[in-house]
Amino acid sequence: MARAKIALIGAGQIGGTLALLAGLKELGDVVLFDVAEGVPQGKSLDIAEAAPVLGFDAKLVGTNGYEAIEGADVVIVTAGVPRKPGMSRSDLLGINLKVMEQVGAGIAKFAPDAFVICITNPLDAMVWALQKASGLPTHKVVGMAGVLDSARFRYFLADEFNVSVEDVTAFVLGGHGDDMVPLVRYSGVAGIPLPDLVKMGWTTQEKVDAIVERTRKGGGEIVNLLKTGSAFYAPAASAIEMATSYLRDKKRLLPAAAYLAGQYGVDKLYLGVPVIIGAGGVERIVEISLDGAEQAMLDKSIASVQELVAECRKIAPDLG
Ligand code: APR
Repeated sequence: MARAKIALIGAGQIGGTLALLAGLKELGDVVLFDVAEGVPQGKSLDIAEAAPVLGFDAKLVGTNGYEAIEGADVVIVTAGVPRKPGMSRSDLLGINLKVMEQVGAGIAKFAPDAFVICITNPLDAMVWALQKASGLPTHKVVGMAGVLDSARFRYFLADEFNVSVEDVTAFVLGGHGDDMVPLVRYSGVAGIPLPDLVKMGWTTQEKVDAIVERTRKGGGEIVNLLKTGSAFYAPAASAIEMATSYLRDKKRLLPAAAYLAGQYGVDKLYLGVPVIIGAGGVERIVEISLDGAEQAMLDKSIASVQELVAECRKIAPDLG
């Protein structure tokens, strides 16, 4: 059977890491696209030259032309600019909305059957814009944030309990921002919920609260350390997990920014919720029950995403 084709739009820090991971995991052949001349070509050649040492077979191509993504099975989008000093949120939105319009048009023309994963920030608004600009069905366009936010939560918990990261499950809902909703009740170690672990004396409520807060601010913590740029290893690994679930029809239950049409009381908006990802794309949106406090936190997060999308509609009324 022919190899799958993975197109990466944006060959920056995350794009390059995605290409390496896709190769290492032998997910398929990789096309790395960027507007910067030479960057996607250089990165893909560098990774291709690592393949004999690392022992994987994949064709890697770097390009500045959208035609090279023709027929891609998966498209992962990291194209865009980061917020620079002096740039307002609207300035950033305006620039990245234009990028999503270009990328969406490229995908619509050359890879309309692909499963599309958006990573560009501000995530919940950019995935909305990318779906509108590409016109692809909503179940084939998702945003990557929840897997990353949950991975941070899992890592902090595993570190606190001194147990394997593999045995820690964690759930984060809502938008990808400071008001995301880490769900303590649905997180734990090998099926033991966090509140029980507090009762068992494994940790304290104060420590759990601090971990929740650190998770919410996880992106900023990395930005402050790096000083230039933002996280890229964990975001790339998270998007690869989603792509794998689609390509191998694994039907993983993962948190992702998905298009809601009434679920969680939200209409026509992308929001981080648990979904099943399989060969059909987003095959199911899982509605879990929330208590009053959790619902209140989610409502706050929904309001922030709504506000962001309203701002996008103002800047780019053509997107609809
Ligand atoms: N089309 C294609 N690529 C573009 C375009 C465009 N219109 N505009 C910019 N790019 C490319 C840049 O040339 C750059 O190589 O997007 C790439 C972005 O890479 P980085 O700046 O290194 O950013 P990265 O760390 O990879 O993050 C990408 O993901 O997590 C989010 O906030 C992050 O929005 C950012 C995105």
